[in-house]
Amino acid sequence: MTGIDIIIKIVYLIAAILFILGLKKLSSPKTARQGNQLAMLGMFLAVVMTAFKIINPVWVLVGLVIGAAVGAISAKKVQMTAMPQMVAIFNGFGGGASTLVAFSEYTSITGEAKIDFYITVVLSILIGTVTFFGSLIAYLKLDGTMKGVPITYAGQQFINALLLILIGVLGTLFVLDTVGIVVIAGMPAWVYLIAIVVLSTVLGITSVIPIGGADMPVVVSLLNSYSGLAAAATGFVLSNYVLIISGALVGASGLILTNIMCVAMNRSLANVLFAAVGSEEGAVSGEKEQRTVVRYTADDAAFMLEKASSVIIIPGYGLAVAQAQHILQEMATILQNQGIKVRYAIHPVAGRMPGHMNVLLAEANVPYDYLLEMDEINDDFQNTDVAFIVGANDVVNPAARYKKDSPLYGMPILNADQARTIMIIKRSLGAGFAGEANELFFDEKTMMVFGDAKKMITDIVHVLKG
Ligand code: TAP
Repeated sequence: MTGIDIIIKIVYLIAAILFILGLKKLSSPKTARQGNQLAMLGMFLAVVMTAFKIINPVWVLVGLVIGAAVGAISAKKVQMTAMPQMVAIFNGFGGGASTLVAFSEYTSITGEAKIDFYITVVLSILIGTVTFFGSLIAYLKLDGTMKGVPITYAGQQFINALLLILIGVLGTLFVLDTVGIVVIAGMPAWVYLIAIVVLSTVLGITSVIPIGGADMPVVVSLLNSYSGLAAAATGFVLSNYVLIISGALVGASGLILTNIMCVAMNRSLANVLFAAVGSEEGAVSGEKEQRTVVRYTADDAAFMLEKASSVIIIPGYGLAVAQAQHILQEMATILQNQGIKVRYAIHPVAGRMPGHMNVLLAEANVPYDYLLEMDEINDDFQNTDVAFIVGANDVVNPAARYKKDSPLYGMPILNADQARTIMIIKRSLGAGFAGEANELFFDEKTMMVFGDAKKMITDIVHVLKG
């Protein structure tokens, strides 16, 4: 081993340690920014060291500049509500890259390679292609280009299982061919790889289309995990340790995140993947709501808030849609300046992606100390004057506690109904993501303030200031 090889290995190790520290710090909103920076530094070191090993770095530099430009511009321009689809497509690119690298390594190998090389080529291509096309479907569904409803047909699971078996058979034949055990005269081994790419493409598409558009964030997290596994497999193909480590980290953390989301929604992963739940967003289950509620104004809301001594704000998906986080923060500050205790209750699956509310409120510079997780704050609602629900619905829907046939049944919710007054800002009596009507709207303690969150909070702020 030359001196430069040793240096590369040491720097790879440092990069891997930075990835692990970065992940650790991502587990709290307070340290998440720092975690991202550490992981970025790790990735920078890994990329620079890898570039050292490349004989002709021109192409690498071209790729790096194009990739960095696309990444930076997209990240700068993306709307907060479009974040899930951006994550989806970037995951997909990771998978696609694994397929291409594995293919190119196979075609450019000179001389004999060990059997594990060929096995990891097959795994890279299989997982990478499934990830790429699965993520593409996820992107199209989240983006609204494709309809979000689950696409189902008879024998769906059977066909998917069959595809996987076929890929397994072809992969085995490819490996046996390359090591000279089973060789079909006149047929080059790469034909198997092409067939695997085609079947994996179909598998990627058919395994994601039956999933409802609104369940897509869970699937995106799972595909993220797959992209990590594909990268780890490619790491074996290339004998690149840092790729193996970072791929394994992405694979494991994606799986953990998927599990956290499923637990928070009280659904099993199998239910998310195979039950075709998650129809069009906002579809109301059962009969159309006939009851009416009293419509309160921004003046009524401001009056009530000023009288309170404690307020818990419950943000939800509608806050992101309305982009009302900045004005919400302004309202909270006005109330705090009047001596009112104001905190935010964050449900683990509020919004449409993990940490959605944390990111949104961090954007508005809400101090992290005011953000409390469900378990930390749920017992405080009973002693709170106003539960201020803005653009949230499912995460406060009491049906989750008692309605056995509801898709929400069993999901832990925020105890907003225990507050002395419940104030809800949304545009209608419509349902949330799960399509379940919400009894809370008809509670005698509830004040419904109908309207777009940004407009209504702006009006409340005007009254509070006036
Ligand atoms: P939802 O239950 O989806 O309710 C959001 C509410 O926001 C809607 O009822 C809507 O009512 C209102 N809204 C929309 N635009 C608005 C605007 N401009 N101004 C004011 N209100 C607006 O949201 P949630 O309570 O945050 O619950 C999240 C749901 O998503 C859960 O069921 C969860 O399981 C699911 N989910 C979450 C994730 C993650 S990881 N967060 C992933 C997948 C699924 P109107 O139309 O009447 O205004």
